[in-house]
Amino acid sequence: MVANASPRGPRGWPLVGSLPSLAADPLDFMVQIAARYGDVVPYRVGVRPHWTFAHPDAIEALLVKHRDALVKDTVTRSLSRVLGEGLLTSENPLWKRQRRLASPSFRPSHLQAYAEVMVAATQRGVQRVTLGERDVHADLTQITMEVVLETLFGTRGGDAGAAGDAVVRFMEAFEEEIRSARRLLPGWVPTRGRRTVARSREVLKQTLGRIIEERRHSGEERDDLLGRLLAARDDDGQGMSDQQLYDEAITLFAAGHETTALALSYALWGIAHDPELAERLAQERREVLGDRPATFDDLKALVWHEAAVKESLRLYPPAWVVGRRVIEAFEVAGVTLREGHQVLLPQWVVHRDPRWWTQPLQFRPARWRNGETDELPRFAYFPFAGGPRVCIGNHFAMMQGVLSLTTWLQSVSVAPAAGAALSFMPAVTLRPRDGVRLSCSPNA
Ligand code: HEM
Repeated sequence: MVANASPRGPRGWPLVGSLPSLAADPLDFMVQIAARYGDVVPYRVGVRPHWTFAHPDAIEALLVKHRDALVKDTVTRSLSRVLGEGLLTSENPLWKRQRRLASPSFRPSHLQAYAEVMVAATQRGVQRVTLGERDVHADLTQITMEVVLETLFGTRGGDAGAAGDAVVRFMEAFEEEIRSARRLLPGWVPTRGRRTVARSREVLKQTLGRIIEERRHSGEERDDLLGRLLAARDDDGQGMSDQQLYDEAITLFAAGHETTALALSYALWGIAHDPELAERLAQERREVLGDRPATFDDLKALVWHEAAVKESLRLYPPAWVVGRRVIEAFEVAGVTLREGHQVLLPQWVVHRDPRWWTQPLQFRPARWRNGETDELPRFAYFPFAGGPRVCIGNHFAMMQGVLSLTTWLQSVSVAPAAGAALSFMPAVTLRPRDGVRLSCSPNA
């Protein structure tokens, strides 16, 4: 990276700074400022100084070396209106304690036990798929929601559909809010979007609260995530408050299914538009599985399916930007960041940067099989972020990605739907604006 002592960035407008451009098209804004000003770009959103860093070395320095000088940025923090103080939004010392409690549920020994649930939920999901043109993102969201509920909360879900809808409504309201000047209003102002977000939290609390209460009353001690959260005790023997339990449950429910559904939907989109790749994948399934369902032990052999998921996470990263706020001044990439500065690290830009990727805009899983990606700088690819706040569900997500993709394609083939295009509505995640419409037919 070329260090630049006085980096330049867009000047923006009085009062709102670059908010109008950022809000109009956040993905394009990130691409344009990187193209025009380089790897380190200062600008303002409202009166807040912002920096975007688009070089892997700077991203590594920020997420790993300077991790103690940064906390979650203002936008991520505002997610606490629905997620509360769960793992994604909280800070030390609460975060450290909760991360320690949740981690065992995501260790390889536990993940192995989830494989069957992932395959079975996908099999049930594909049975619901009516053939013809449809939004596969909606199908996959239902599947990934069932997987999270069953693996982490030990329940088949029942009326969890309402909770899934609440996540969608919250995402939409959040997207609208962060794209308007309303995002500059103080947190206590009850905007329409904020009221929708508060209602979503109530629905999530009710649905997940019922699941928590049922487990409490059953007196059953299970070694799943919910069991571990319920059994957790402080040094003075205190259990987790109901509030904290809800916050963790809502966080894991929301963070655990939406993102994986996106990764799978965009992988199917890429496969639908590349018949040669679809055939390569079919060949792998024939060789590894024949007609039987996939298991945990097959994962290491399903290398092309894994490459398709990785490539989906590169080209269409569900978490398209990582945000942080500086709490203590430090220097990085030749500039000084001061307390209160907001830092954005856009996967969307770095994952499409021709310095690291050949044919960066092509969906080309082969790049993960032919050695092309072996020498990449560590943070040229960071779909799950990195450092201590790295996604706790990264192995869970990769495993479900491969198993669900394989299981789906064993039953249902995908092809382009007439007139369908992919466009995005980036807010917390890279959601599709009009769904992911594909033509589905039975896999002979
Ligand atoms: C393809 C799927 C997924 C992607 C792309 C993804 C991406 C991310 C990213 C980028 C972060 C870091 C955010 C930051 O540093 O500000 C994160 C954090 C987190 N993710 Fe994921 N995630 C995925 C799946 C999952 C799953 C399956 C779960 C749980 C079952 C999960 C739970 C979490 C939690 C709890 C955090 C906060 C971790 C902490 O700060 O300790 N994610 N995820």
